Amino acid sequence: MRKKIIAGNFKMNYSVNRADNFISEIKDRINTDEVDVVICPNFVALDRISELLDGTNIKLGAQNVYFEDSGAYTGETSVDMLAAVNVKYCIVGHSERRKYFNETDEIVNKKVKKILEKDISPIICVGETLEVRDSGKHFELIENQIKEALKNIDKEAVSRNVIIAYEPIWAIGTGVSAASVQANEMCKFIRDVIAKLYTRKVADLVRIQYGGSVKPSNAKEILECSDIDGTLVGGASLTNDFVAIVNY
Ligand code: PGA
Repeated sequence: MRKKIIAGNFKMNYSVNRADNFISEIKDRINTDEVDVVICPNFVALDRISELLDGTNIKLGAQNVYFEDSGAYTGETSVDMLAAVNVKYCIVGHSERRKYFNETDEIVNKKVKKILEKDISPIICVGETLEVRDSGKHFELIENQIKEALKNIDKEAVSRNVIIAYEPIWAIGTGVSAASVQANEMCKFIRDVIAKLYTRKVADLVRIQYGGSVKPSNAKEILECSDIDGTLVGGASLTNDFVAIVNY
């Protein structure tokens, strides 16, 4: 049985004091017995939030990373720097990074490789625009994103650490989530792609999240789908709604 994993992506919200106050307020109300819970605040809050989460079962995640180890890369953060503050998960290839920061499939692949080297779990985001869905090419696009993200990555690393987040772009921050049937259909498709690339056993181990306008009113239905192993939550992770989603 795959354990569900619910991650909150704060995006560029909540500077360190606010993040600290908010997480201090919710952390004891979050039930981590049956669900892995991850919180991804911004970079400058990671160190403080790491201390705050010490001794709890809530894990720390980063929203991004660079694929080089160190050196003259102004403004970037390495995987070792994340590991040093106890980051266990790292979002890669979020559609906002692909759109505003020109993150390509090739860059995503380099980041995933580097993250896996350090035994951190990448949360690899894939998803189609409404235009692509309307043209009927969404399965093809997602298959390609998965293949490129996992290029030259061995099956041990994939089974141990890789998490995929299916996030249709038309559902992110719009209030309109995918219907659970649509979301489950794509998550199942993604699992089949992984089975083709590796083995069915590997595919059955990989956790696949859905993300896009997840809220307390739709979380349960989404989380009960056969191929959906968790959610990646944006807007709702900034409020008490996150507690309701995790304790669904
Ligand atoms: P949303 O964002 O929950 O605000 O739609 C999801 C995401 O971008 O991960």
